[in-house]
Amino acid sequence: MRNRNHSYLLVTGGAGYIGSHTVVELMEAGHNVLVLDNFSNSSRASIEGVRKICGKEPILIEGNIADEELLQNIFKEHRIDSVLHFAGLKSVADSVSQPLKYYIENVGSSLCLFDVMECNNVRKIIFSSSATVYEPAGEQPYSELSPTGPGNPYGKTKLCVEQILHGLAVANPNWEIGILRYFNPVGAHPSGLIGEDPKQYPNNLMPLVMQTAIGRRKKLEIYGDDYDTPDGTCIRDYIHVLDLARGHLLALEYLERHPGIHYWNLGTGKGISVKELVEQAKEITGTEIETQVVARRPGDSPIAIADPRKAKEELLWHPEYSLVNMCADHWNWQRHHPDGYQ
Ligand SMILES: NC(=O)c1ccc[n+]([C@@H]2O[C@H](COP(=O)([O-])OP(=O)(O)OC[C@H]3O[C@@H](n4cnc5c(N)ncnc54)[C@H](O)[C@@H]3O)[C@@H](O)[C@H]2O)c1
Repeated sequence: MRNRNHSYLLVTGGAGYIGSHTVVELMEAGHNVLVLDNFSNSSRASIEGVRKICGKEPILIEGNIADEELLQNIFKEHRIDSVLHFAGLKSVADSVSQPLKYYIENVGSSLCLFDVMECNNVRKIIFSSSATVYEPAGEQPYSELSPTGPGNPYGKTKLCVEQILHGLAVANPNWEIGILRYFNPVGAHPSGLIGEDPKQYPNNLMPLVMQTAIGRRKKLEIYGDDYDTPDGTCIRDYIHVLDLARGHLLALEYLERHPGIHYWNLGTGKGISVKELVEQAKEITGTEIETQVVARRPGDSPIAIADPRKAKEELLWHPEYSLVNMCADHWNWQRHHPDGYQ
């Protein structure tokens, strides 16, 4: 037995983009953190970045959350208080071509985690959900009560895990569950030591914009400029990853006082179009980001904006960072790591 004297927060997927920023936030707030990650979409270098920022590092265990024996050992050897569950796959396009893989990785692995938590009497969890759980054509902005109805397998796996957690909360009032529905996380820690480093072709706009600005891509493809929006391009709600990370800490604190299951949107409530984001990025990076309008991407909804009032009222969470900060911090990370962590 070791480390049973201190309690730990178990962060699954803690070496990834949002996980590593949240680990910094948690450690800076004085928590002991244990990261479990299989590095399928991340590298140890992010934890090295965390160490440089915080002056100490979390316990790092390489492994899969679907490995029940490993999970049981982790819970036996460490006093785990709560789990922050980031681990999973996140590409909408891949989920369409490989739905089974997404159900196995996102739902099957989560079942294993929840089962081991229950066995070990640990029932406090924050789950990384997504705005994709809402009906794509739903009325804007989305509140937590807006109809769900994901338009792709990725969103369906997120909703499925939400529903499993809901069932656990109904069955046992001792569960304390925070479901965070992220909108579009961007930006990086201002140190430039950690940031987003997708291993495959990026799924989302900001990494593509910044990779084009740094010269890794010749031009940025804009998927459609004939949507029913003011400039014809899709509108999203971008949120700085540090604001997002702080939301996790506040949600954990809230659960101390309010057991049960709670849902919060984490977005700014402001819509930014693709063209607006590209214009802001051109100004910040001082580069000419060449764009080319191509066909719409199937499944993209014209607008997705959060109504973040519930998080503001209940968690006292207020996004602090502007679009300028988001672009500047993402660019700072990209400039320091033109090829990611390699
Ligand atoms: N980034 C976004 O735009 C966004 C938006 C909404 C929701 N989310 C969700 O937030 C979470 C974190 O997203 P991210 O952007 O940091 O992604 P990421 O890919 O950077 O991080 C996920 C981490 O989980 C690890 N991982 C994956 N499967 C694992 C497994 N079976 N066992 C152990 N580790 C595993 C990966 O190696 C990676 O480090 C994901 O669940 C994602 O679906 C992300």
